[in-house]
Amino acid sequence: MTPQTVRLGIVGAGGRGASFKTACDAIPGVSIVAVCDVDSARAQRVAEMLGAKRLFTDYEQMLDSDEVDAVIVATPMPMHAPQSVSALKRNIHVLSEVPAAVSVEECRELVQAVAQSKAVYMMAENYIYAKPIVLVKELVRQGLFGTTYYAEGEYIHELKELNELTPWRRRWQTGINGNTYPTHSIGPVLEWMPGDRVVAVCCAGSGHHYRDARGELYENEDTTITLCKMRSGGLVKLRLDMLSDRPHAMNVYQLQGTDGCYESARAHGEHDRVWLRQLCPDMNTWLPLHELEEQFLPAEWKQQEEQARRTGHGGGDYFVLMDFVRAVRGECSPRVDVHYALDMTLPGLMSQISIAQGGRWVDVPDSRIWGTEAEPKPQLQMIYPPHRFTSVPEPPLPEGYRLRNIRPGEEEKYLALMRKVGFAEGWTVADVQRFMRNVLPGGFFVVEHVSTGDLVATAMANHSPNEQHPNAGVLDWVAADPAHQGKGLGKVVVYAVVRLLVQRGYQRIYLLTDDWRLPAIATYLSLGWEPYIYNEEMDVRWQKVREALSRRSQGH
Ligand SMILES: NC(=O)c1ccc[n+]([C@@H]2O[C@H](COP(=O)([O-])OP(=O)(O)OC[C@H]3O[C@@H](n4cnc5c(N)ncnc54)[C@H](O)[C@@H]3O)[C@@H](O)[C@H]2O)c1
Repeated sequence: MTPQTVRLGIVGAGGRGASFKTACDAIPGVSIVAVCDVDSARAQRVAEMLGAKRLFTDYEQMLDSDEVDAVIVATPMPMHAPQSVSALKRNIHVLSEVPAAVSVEECRELVQAVAQSKAVYMMAENYIYAKPIVLVKELVRQGLFGTTYYAEGEYIHELKELNELTPWRRRWQTGINGNTYPTHSIGPVLEWMPGDRVVAVCCAGSGHHYRDARGELYENEDTTITLCKMRSGGLVKLRLDMLSDRPHAMNVYQLQGTDGCYESARAHGEHDRVWLRQLCPDMNTWLPLHELEEQFLPAEWKQQEEQARRTGHGGGDYFVLMDFVRAVRGECSPRVDVHYALDMTLPGLMSQISIAQGGRWVDVPDSRIWGTEAEPKPQLQMIYPPHRFTSVPEPPLPEGYRLRNIRPGEEEKYLALMRKVGFAEGWTVADVQRFMRNVLPGGFFVVEHVSTGDLVATAMANHSPNEQHPNAGVLDWVAADPAHQGKGLGKVVVYAVVRLLVQRGYQRIYLLTDDWRLPAIATYLSLGWEPYIYNEEMDVRWQKVREALSRRSQGH
């Protein structure tokens, strides 16, 4: 073993972890010295198979053994982030299986751990190294597609039986609705849209048509489609299907650019094809992609094709490990660093929020600004305490006003009100119509000024659960026309929403607001809403709000 040999430990070695052996054998300067699996019989068997001299059933012990410089984290999905963080804290390099994490909270912890560690973190997204993906990437790089603006990525892999053999899949892949396994479909697409990222997603499903071995419906719909809006303005469509009975199609892609397009083969025996303005005689002639290999496939891929092919996933496992080892040796930065890993992971996590909220567009955070000045502050949150649910007040409406629901055709009137209070920048009639479609039935309240027909106050009741507030209802978009101030109209619409949510059986009712909306916060506090404090930062911010409110009430 040379001094530069990277001493590798594999956790989750009894499953996917063991498959890295062929790649390890093919790559100089890396050696599997330890394996870890909670299943000791598996660990024993794999240690022998892989020729690892140390065997652990406790991951922390392997990390503390001083025998590994780097780990491959190939355990079930919910362990990827915590086990990566544990290694990074000890400055042990990490190659993590996909996806990087199973919650936004975990993504944040991972980013922080990477920032504080001397070690390298890379996510083992292997499909981006497959030959057609690399070849199309090179064609994009050489400008043959022009500007790329639309793509599709599909992961269709019937896994019902495997769900029973590896029960974690039943919980984390088919036990949650939305795109729970996005990296193999979004990863290649991001390679073809360099510098771009997903900024918002919207997810819908095809319903539930299969049951597991216990007769239970899967929580994930059979097919989900996630539409991804790109920062550049482009669009990507992701399909995930782990349940439908049909042949696998684990790497199906399409790409559209201003000067070319690509369609991958859907089934065995078919060929990937491209149309490229510069190389095709007319707009009806496709070229088989493989005909471009000789001229365009990067030399690095060609030269290593033979070794790569012997490892898994069309050579992907070989190139993943090789890039990781290079990064560990300081020869380059990790090919899929933590932020790129989260560009492939977060769209999936946000798709799960989108589908739970009826397919609402949901922003996808950019992990690069987490913890920096550029990061927008999370909004303040307030809760309407459940002990008040039994008797929600119904304040009287002053004469000349009417409380009711918004009607179709009143979009412009609503926009006029929202503009008065500074909410509606960039909103269109279509946005209001979307609100009308998504709101809880009967939950889009307005107060009409009877003599003018103007809408002068409004609030909305929405179903808006999230990690902090499961199954919760939210009080949204409260506004009251300043020209009708002092008449208690804000209170009327707030209570109307609360009453509706209570009637619908919501156990958690919350709202979002901003530190500077002091008059609104004062009203909420006076109506019994309570600050929702979930970390120290919130504590400090609420103290400042209270101080500002007290100065305000003393007339300063
Ligand atoms: N990139 C790819 O192409 C690809 C392919 C297959 C699997 N995967 C990923 O690899 C991971 C593992 O998948 P799998 O199919 O091998 O699952 P698996 O259940 O077959 O294997 C996981 C192994 O981890 C062990 N394990 C569980 N908890 C552990 C712990 N706390 N410490 C140590 N060992 C533990 C289990 O005993 C098991 O042997 C998953 O995240 C999966 O998504 C990726």
